[in-house]
Amino acid sequence: MLNFDDDDFPLGGTSPAMSPSAATLQSDNLAPGQRRVNVADKRIINGQTDVNQLVPFKYKWAWEKYLATCANHWMPQEVNMSRDIATWKDPHGLSDDERRIIKRNLGFFVTADSLAANNITLGTYRHITAPECRQFLLRQAFEEAIHTHAYQYIVESLGLDESEIFNAYHEVPSIRNKDEFLIPFIDAIMNPLFKTGTPQADQTLLRSLIVFACLMEGLFFYVGFTQILALGRQNKMTGAAEQYQYILRDESMHCNFGIDLINQIKLENPHLWTAEFKAEITSLFLRAVDLEYAYAEDTMPRGVLGLNAAMFKGYLRYIANRRATQIGLDPLFPNEENPFPWMSEMIDLKKERNFFETRVIEYQSGGALSWD
Ligand SMILES: [Fe+2]
Ligand SMILES: [Fe+2]
Repeated sequence: MLNFDDDDFPLGGTSPAMSPSAATLQSDNLAPGQRRVNVADKRIINGQTDVNQLVPFKYKWAWEKYLATCANHWMPQEVNMSRDIATWKDPHGLSDDERRIIKRNLGFFVTADSLAANNITLGTYRHITAPECRQFLLRQAFEEAIHTHAYQYIVESLGLDESEIFNAYHEVPSIRNKDEFLIPFIDAIMNPLFKTGTPQADQTLLRSLIVFACLMEGLFFYVGFTQILALGRQNKMTGAAEQYQYILRDESMHCNFGIDLINQIKLENPHLWTAEFKAEITSLFLRAVDLEYAYAEDTMPRGVLGLNAAMFKGYLRYIANRRATQIGLDPLFPNEENPFPWMSEMIDLKKERNFFETRVIEYQSGGALSWD
């Protein structure tokens, strides 16, 4: 049996002082100095309870999302890519604009999910003191590895120039600009010297969590997802499109978990949500919409697949409104409609439960997704 002295809780939080509530001390059966986790003492950040004890659960939503993500497990090599390979090799299989979309897409995503994985494992994880949330983050990190694997698998299957695709985030301005926007927020919480425990540091973490969940996973992925899913709907590159659909479903859950995490931190630390902070977050949202729209223009210099860049202006505004209101900000672009209702069939949060249940049955029976 483990014995915990006052100094034995460094994993529980980043601030050194221990101040367990009286409720934490259960003197009846425990030796002096021993304590048990009281659920009321658990906190998302700056918690002082033992992070090695998953239960008692306080944040059941995190545990339920962990279970849901595990039920949706998939692996890239289970998806048959032979039709995609034949299409790619056929000089008439795809237009130049369609090929551009695929290469740009992979160019962004092959490194984006590595950024995400590093952000989770080297940044977010150590600052979160609720073990049920850490459990989700561990699963999420593995899913990011699966996503990077999926993109690599597509690149390898199609025989693309690996150096060109993996260096796109340095070399293609519309991709580089998105990553340059994100990286300072990742670096801030990955810095080994960074720790929470002051209002300023806690706002730094909260800001990074919002950028990651709402703007990276929740906005910067959506032009690319829409484009590849549009290809799949036209019966082109259906192997890649099937993988993107699984990834979209995973990312939708990551985004929802991140939003729950952000809202719980706000609830436990209302002093962080100042008018000045909200204004700063709003300006980051606006900048992110501009960057993703520039990416849409670069990837679609002309109309393709029934899509064009201008349609994405409305779509990105619609998504940005959703993310903003989900974390308690006012809509940024009131009254925007979704120009891609077929996308909402797959990603609309209200329908997500059905979408997930469908997918689980299909996956467990070994069937493939169908495209209509
Ligand atoms: Fe991912
Ligand atoms: Fe993700």
